[in-house]
Amino acid sequence: MGHILCLIFLKTLALYLLNNVFICFTQGSYLDFSPFPSGGELLLSVGSNLTLECSYNSSDIITNTMVFTRDGVMLGSDFKQSLIGTNDGLSKTLLVEKTNVNCSDGGTYLCTMDKLSKRINVTIVKVTTKDFRVSEVNKHGSLSCRPEICSPSIAMSSSDVYQFNVTWVFKGLEINSDDTLYKFSEKSDQLLIASPAPDIYGIYTCKGDIQRTDIQQSEALHWKTKAYLRGPPTLRKVDSEKSVCLNDHVTIICEAAGFPPPILEWRKNGSDMETNTTRIYVLSGGLYIQSFTAHDSGEYTCIAKSEEFSDTDRANIHVNLKDASDCVGDWNNLPVIWISVGVGVVLLIIVITIIWKKKCQGEQQTNSNTEHNYASINFKTKKYKKKKGHEPEALYGVVDVTGKRFETDLNVDVSVGR
Ligand SMILES: *[C@@H]1O[C@H](CO)[C@@H](O)[C@H](O)[C@H]1NC(C)=O
Ligand SMILES: *[C@@H]1O[C@H](CO)[C@@H](O)[C@H](O)[C@H]1NC(C)=O
Ligand SMILES: *[C@@H]1O[C@H](CO)[C@@H](O)[C@H](O)[C@H]1NC(C)=O
Ligand SMILES: *[C@@H]1O[C@H](CO)[C@@H](O)[C@H](O)[C@H]1NC(C)=O
Ligand SMILES: *[C@@H]1O[C@H](CO)[C@@H](O)[C@H](O)[C@H]1NC(C)=O
Ligand SMILES: *[C@@H]1O[C@H](CO)[C@@H](O)[C@H](O)[C@H]1NC(C)=O
Ligand SMILES: *[C@@H]1O[C@H](CO)[C@@H](O)[C@H](O)[C@H]1NC(C)=O
Repeated sequence: MGHILCLIFLKTLALYLLNNVFICFTQGSYLDFSPFPSGGELLLSVGSNLTLECSYNSSDIITNTMVFTRDGVMLGSDFKQSLIGTNDGLSKTLLVEKTNVNCSDGGTYLCTMDKLSKRINVTIVKVTTKDFRVSEVNKHGSLSCRPEICSPSIAMSSSDVYQFNVTWVFKGLEINSDDTLYKFSEKSDQLLIASPAPDIYGIYTCKGDIQRTDIQQSEALHWKTKAYLRGPPTLRKVDSEKSVCLNDHVTIICEAAGFPPPILEWRKNGSDMETNTTRIYVLSGGLYIQSFTAHDSGEYTCIAKSEEFSDTDRANIHVNLKDASDCVGDWNNLPVIWISVGVGVVLLIIVITIIWKKKCQGEQQTNSNTEHNYASINFKTKKYKKKKGHEPEALYGVVDVTGKRFETDLNVDVSVGR
């Protein structure tokens, strides 16, 4: 009896001590995942990087090591573990990284330190896409883009708790439900091609969100992926006929649609032609010919080809040389015309200026000649000078000088007069 009492006493003492030690240990100690709170769920897409940060701080000196497990197993060497932050003996942060995660990386990750442990569930989401190839036989189909939970623990296996959204983008524009070319499945994870047309073949972007709805500590995972709508090559914009002038720079338009983008091939008068020379080359929207010659005229055939489709689409384009008389004042020669006109005008102005200058000089000479005459007259009859009072001053200067110069002449004149 005494033994049993003693045992009970010892057990109670042991429990008391254990509890006290435990409380002592946990007091002022803190352990958690950051930036994600523990107990939550982290959604990751296949191929992304997993980063978990477990932080511990304590009022006591840390002596133990932090242990990381996944579903009860120690993390393997494919995980990179590193201590970060201050290592002051009172806090510790362990960083766990794995690049390019796959389905097998999901599970419950546990961080243990002393008697504390925190868990976080990691769920890997795989987004699968399905392309569609439009063909003669199979005109209608759909593109799809759907998230799958690929690492469910038993508790996570019910996918009802996950909700997702999908939006489709083509050529930078979001496709909405009133676009008659497409139809959406209920969850938009399928884009049905209602009316196949060459212009809608190409690369589609599928954007989406997935989130667990039954727990609060779950952030939505955003994904973005591509799906391809393949279609046969089709010519959509082609010149029917073209008349060009000699030496013109010509682009024979022939644009193809289809996905993968078709290759354009050219024939001339039914046979292969040499393209991608310095003078003739293939552009995405046609054939460019620099300085058209008489030899370039003929019947061109534009062929859109795709390796993936045995289909081809072709068109004939007649290109002929215009009559020389129709090419006068051709828009292509406009710059030349304007340059010629410009040069002509400048030359004309120069000629006019020269003539004007010449004429002015001549007039000045005749003016001084008349002044000479006036001078002789003025000295003869003072009356006449007064009448000419409205003459410009400059001319008087000339008069004065010439007047003095011809004094002797006057004297002679006077003597003659006598
Ligand atoms: C995490 O997974 C475990 C099973 O591995 C489960 O018991 C627990 O409920 C899960 N937690 C959350 C928040 O889903
Ligand atoms: C994952 O990590 C690697 C190496 O650190 C990096 O090169 C890559 O860009 C990261 N991927 C993503 C999706 O962040
Ligand atoms: C430990 O970290 C938590 C959360 O960051 C903080 O509230 C607490 O004061 C810290 N304790 C010590 C002893 O540093
Ligand atoms: C996942 O990656 C690991 C290595 O990190 C590899 O051993 C395993 O085969 C991969 N699993 C799948 C399903 O790809
Ligand atoms: C789905 O989209 C709606 C509106 O765009 C948004 O309010 C909702 O949160 C989204 N759901 C998920 C799971 O992302
Ligand atoms: C000619 O060159 C263009 C680009 O300069 C290229 O796209 C095209 O494929 C080439 N064609 C041939 C027949 O080499
Ligand atoms: C192509 O045919 C046209 C007549 O249709 C002819 O004028 C031209 O010279 C021919 N060109 C070549 C390179 O054979």
